[in-house]
Amino acid sequence: MDLSSLPREKWLGDDYLVQLGGFWFLPQFVKKNKRVINNYKPLPNDVILVTFPKSGTTWLKSILYSILNRSSRHKLAVEHPHDLVPFLEAQVFAEADEPLALAAPSDDRPRLFATHLPYQLLTKTLDSSECKVIYLTRNPKDVLVSLWHFVNKWNMENPDRSWSLDEATDKFCDGVSLCGPYYDHVLGYKELSLKRPKNVMFVTFEEMLEDPHGYVKKLGDFLGCPFEEEEEVDDIVKNCSIEVLSSYDVNKSKESTTWFPSPYNSFFRKGKIGDYKNYLSNESVQRIDTLTKERFHSLGFMYGI
Ligand code: A3P
Repeated sequence: MDLSSLPREKWLGDDYLVQLGGFWFLPQFVKKNKRVINNYKPLPNDVILVTFPKSGTTWLKSILYSILNRSSRHKLAVEHPHDLVPFLEAQVFAEADEPLALAAPSDDRPRLFATHLPYQLLTKTLDSSECKVIYLTRNPKDVLVSLWHFVNKWNMENPDRSWSLDEATDKFCDGVSLCGPYYDHVLGYKELSLKRPKNVMFVTFEEMLEDPHGYVKKLGDFLGCPFEEEEEVDDIVKNCSIEVLSSYDVNKSKESTTWFPSPYNSFFRKGKIGDYKNYLSNESVQRIDTLTKERFHSLGFMYGI
């Protein structure tokens, strides 16, 4: 595919992002994204976790894996959540149009995948399927701060490419962010969840963190595998907590993942609500809140401030 025909914007140092269907991606992901868009045909019982980067993907991967594979604690202790639940674009379709990882399982257990692709690019794929989608969102200020930390860690070896928070904020507000614009990404799935509530569940990082037990149960119900024992739910909440997950060697590893230039340990930091208050200036907070009011609140979606 000829990337030079696509719009591009400077992003970080000499790196640039490329625009595909109105959304911005690292150039090396454009071909992989197109493979998913053109070739992925979800099975009716596929389960797909969708997120904007840094919204809590790693956490919900471990929870969904645990819900679908009860007694998964030993697996979580030895495999990183990103290896247990692969990204469609970065892992499953990274090299091939018809990847082996897509082979339907011999039993009728659902396949579980994740993606950062916006609904606007997956409209045909999702509209033609009965698969289940879980969309996890997070407030934009914490997403931005988490992204800024993550990217600086990923570029750690090259100090020339360190990224200031002001630069990161400018890019985020302009929509020029990995898989951004953030607001379009969230709204695409929010609207879909209202249209197809049986197939699409929309959850926020904040409500999950405030009531993880309640949300693990709701997710079990949504996926058609309700819990009989409250204890099972408690186990999942505990086993997937940031304290427990980040204590495992596999998740502490400084080694880079095979599919992204970031170390395994960079997916676990604080996992709190409102950490942006420790980093963003009042001016940046106001700037993002104004955008949030314009993009979310004006539509009656009272989220993100
Ligand atoms: P912070 O940088 O704010 O701490 P993603 O998984 O989408 O890349 O998002 C990463 C964010 O989720 C990071 O946020 C990370 O610390 C947080 N996170 C990872 N595992 C978590 C868990 N088990 N519980 C809560 N938050 C978690």
